[in-house]
Amino acid sequence: MAETVPDRPFPVARQARLAVFASGRGSNLASLLGAFPTTGEEPLAAVRLVVSDRQAALALAAAEAAGVPSRHIPFARDRERFEAAADEALREHAIDLVCLAGFMRVLSPAFAERWHGRMLNVHPSLLPAFRGLQATRQALEAGVDESGCTVHFVDAGVDTGRTIVQRRVRIEARDDEPALARRILREEHIAYPEAVRLVLRGEVTP
Ligand code: GRF
Repeated sequence: MAETVPDRPFPVARQARLAVFASGRGSNLASLLGAFPTTGEEPLAAVRLVVSDRQAALALAAAEAAGVPSRHIPFARDRERFEAAADEALREHAIDLVCLAGFMRVLSPAFAERWHGRMLNVHPSLLPAFRGLQATRQALEAGVDESGCTVHFVDAGVDTGRTIVQRRVRIEARDDEPALARRILREEHIAYPEAVRLVLRGEVTP
């Protein structure tokens, strides 16, 4: 089991090691790999591990193509085993910061506590509005005129940790769910690397 970490883990006096957890297509993984390549030319950080709960995730193929070590760790009905194996992989790769990027599972409060201040998530709404699943549909159904994305620290709740970066997107009358989701996703790709930089420099803490 990983040790509980100090309250202010950042900045670290070396290149930080990132892990990305993804369940699907992995476009946020691609943006993080672009900003923090595994080849190490960004002094602040490099992606050193990709974890997916789904063997077929495109994110795993993207990791392989980029030369990043990756792990498929099954989750189905066994969160405890997933978390034990994830902790082990994170320790083995000496990971400093975990980025959940389209990771479609809810981690336990104990896991969130172990990674307190060192685990981020991206959500496709302006939190605290529209937590949970289908946030884009929720925004359209609510009839609001803007939505966006939030990168936040992960705490014991679902989509409840402190906000690090938000980017806003106007909702147009003709928007359907795919159109709005596409525009929000483009903002996620900007927001996530920005949030990682703020956290690693110690400029935002949970
Ligand atoms: C993103 O919209 C993210 O906000 C949500 O799941 C989607 C993942 O997309 N949690 P991708 O796999 O990074 O392309």
